[in-house]
Amino acid sequence: MKETMTDKWAQLDVAMSASSLKTIKERFAEDKDRAAKYTLEAAGWMLDYSKNRIDEKVMKALVKLAKESNLKEEIEKMFTGKKINATEGRAVLHTALRNLNKADKVKVDGKDVLKDVRKVLDQMGDFSDKVRQGKWKGFAGKRIKNVVNIGIGGSDLGPVMANIALTPYTKRNMKFFFVSNVDSTHLAETLRAVKANETLFIIASKTFTTQETMSNALAAKDWFLAEAKKAGLKKADAEAAVAKHFVAVSTAAKEVAAFGIDTKNMFGFWDWVGGRYSLPSAIGLSLMLAIGRNNYKKLLKGYYKMDRHFRTARFERNMPVILALLGILYHNGYGAESYCVLPYDQYLSRFPAYLQQMDMESNGKCVDKDGNGVEYSTGPIEWGEPGTNGQHSFYQLIHQGTHLIPCDFIGCCKTHNPIGDLHDKLMANLFAQTEALAFGKTAEECAAEGVEKKLIPFKTFEGNKPTNTLLCDQLTPETLGALVALYEHKVFVQGVIWNVYSYDQWGVQLGKVLAKGVLTDLTAKKPALKHDSSTNQLIVRYRKAVGR
Ligand code: F6P
Repeated sequence: MKETMTDKWAQLDVAMSASSLKTIKERFAEDKDRAAKYTLEAAGWMLDYSKNRIDEKVMKALVKLAKESNLKEEIEKMFTGKKINATEGRAVLHTALRNLNKADKVKVDGKDVLKDVRKVLDQMGDFSDKVRQGKWKGFAGKRIKNVVNIGIGGSDLGPVMANIALTPYTKRNMKFFFVSNVDSTHLAETLRAVKANETLFIIASKTFTTQETMSNALAAKDWFLAEAKKAGLKKADAEAAVAKHFVAVSTAAKEVAAFGIDTKNMFGFWDWVGGRYSLPSAIGLSLMLAIGRNNYKKLLKGYYKMDRHFRTARFERNMPVILALLGILYHNGYGAESYCVLPYDQYLSRFPAYLQQMDMESNGKCVDKDGNGVEYSTGPIEWGEPGTNGQHSFYQLIHQGTHLIPCDFIGCCKTHNPIGDLHDKLMANLFAQTEALAFGKTAEECAAEGVEKKLIPFKTFEGNKPTNTLLCDQLTPETLGALVALYEHKVFVQGVIWNVYSYDQWGVQLGKVLAKGVLTDLTAKKPALKHDSSTNQLIVRYRKAVGR
């Protein structure tokens, strides 16, 4: 009889209930080698996962779960281009984007995709060299000083996150802007900050049909044409100047041409790159313009190192697998609905937001691969903020609230900006938080410190709160690439165990379709409102306020 997920959870339950008799604190007390035992190194990152509710039995049960989910075979299917995104009939090959190993071949429908990958990478490199060296001139003969990336979701979050993360590597005499929201304020405030004759717009959209991106792109083009005319260009010359100021990143050449962008200035990618996994594709063009082609290649190298580790290391020593299994332990074993990612590095301030799309759009699924409703919880809620800011905001709830919230702490030993002892203080806070969460503070300890008896319940800390700590020497293009790949593969492993399709996102469609109908009702002369009474009421209220 085929084993069900329920049977698998039951095995895990048995291991867990035996292990949960002991706290993290007790486990440390009985094993002086615990930290070393539960620590891994890969691709420039150290993962210390010793401050978790685990022992050898729990880890064995978790690894067994991975093996019984055919994880090894699934990993190979992904890396070798099998069409594992079955609901869209596509391969999932973001790993091919960072494989610069000349000897390798990865085929989709009989065609080696690595050749195309390298061609686009060279095209991006040549273009970014020209722009960065001031050889690519705008309509007034001036060099490009501003780059505005217009895109949303995967065509925005990765480039934004990485541009901030790699600020020390960016060309400081260029400015980079990212417009994603269809809220006109986003575009308007960006356009206020730039001059048309020294600005390059990158229209980044896999499909080139996304409402937000296309609306912003058209508005940016109208603004550009008006500015060019103001600068004295005739209509035809202004239109010709679009080619110098607008480029596209897309899989849809026809749509790009229809928009008016010369397809010579289009940087392609392929349907086997999911939006939320597309940072190392041409979607990273704005990043390459910022950090240069060599640093961009170092980023890919970092990704590749983690890819190799993931593909080859045995599960017990495999960083993405371990991270995924610990996530499963708390999500399915302990019912923790969310997990927190807390980077103690200001440059990683948008990393939690980037991970939200990667994780929640991938595994926020309630139907398994056979089309049946799942009987277990999938897709955790991911959230977080950079430390130490979060400490003065929501950590109270993590320490003393009623929810169990496993946390990933991320830190870099060396700062790019040494000022006095600030970095030591930052890292001291990181390490101290993981200590406080794991070990807490007992009533006896409070009493020994002289805490007034009636205040003891409020000043004790239960502890036993699980954390992972990820440490690298310094945040560089290489370590950033490895970090992103680590979480990509973690999400993949969890999707395999939950038996869901991690690479489609049908859940975003309904709202998009309904918005089209609502838009008609907002703008039509006399709409016949056929929605529910709440939606109708909102539409009427809006129309009244704007005088329709
Ligand atoms: O929100 C859904 C989504 O399809 C994401 O998966 C994707 O990253 C985003 O929209 C943008 O899509 P595109 O790059 O095609 O404009």
